[in-house]
Amino acid sequence: MSSFLRPLAYRHRWIYDLVTAVSSLSVGGVDRLRGLGLEALRPHLKPEATVLDLCCGSGEAAAPWLEAGFRVTGLDISPRALALAAQRYPAMERVEGLAEDPPLKEASFAAIQMSVALHEFPRTDREAVLTSCLRLLQPGGSLVLVDLHPAGPWLRLPQRLFCALFETDTATAMLEDDLPSQLERIGFTAVNQDLLAGQALQRITATRPRTSATP
Ligand SMILES: C[S@@+](CC[C@H](N)C(=O)[O-])C[C@H]1O[C@@H](n2cnc3c(N)ncnc32)[C@H](O)[C@@H]1O
Repeated sequence: MSSFLRPLAYRHRWIYDLVTAVSSLSVGGVDRLRGLGLEALRPHLKPEATVLDLCCGSGEAAAPWLEAGFRVTGLDISPRALALAAQRYPAMERVEGLAEDPPLKEASFAAIQMSVALHEFPRTDREAVLTSCLRLLQPGGSLVLVDLHPAGPWLRLPQRLFCALFETDTATAMLEDDLPSQLERIGFTAVNQDLLAGQALQRITATRPRTSATP
């Protein structure tokens, strides 16, 4: 369930952008939010490495990767978002598909980013999405997730309000779950969690082991 504001924000781009701008203030603004994935993984990647932005939307979080010279593929379920991405970031290769079952070759990416998108999935689908990430990463490749985390005392109320107005029940469910443990159970190693923005946001990095079997 979600309020009437969520479909409105997805239909009218300016509402979506305004909500993103306001909600990213606690982390230092939109540019910082969009750059969190790159900031975490850049030191581990070769120049021009292949990167997947899973649930890329219109490509805003892929933009810093493109500017840094990486070869970026963006996957999203929404043709509308992908059309916008084509206009804004033509250098990004675009794939329309489901993150739970992406039409992409195994072990084809050095890095995968999921920026504020995992909370959109129900628990069982989330497991499928993360397992797909493990399969799509090259052995030794890295995943970075940036998403909601239960906020500390100062931002607890604003976060509840934000979730009630703009998110679905899947976001509330994700806030109850321990994502680092889920990633380890699925087969990721070197799982590391940073809490940002008064704990309202988590950035998790995790690695596909070099020796892992195909998930
Ligand atoms: C909140 S937006 C985040 C977009 C982008 N990652 C960003 O940081 O701006 C979530 C995106 O997930 C996409 N999405 C939702 N369910 C999906 C699915 N099952 N498979 C692929 N994309 C999905 C939506 O179309 C939307 O573009």
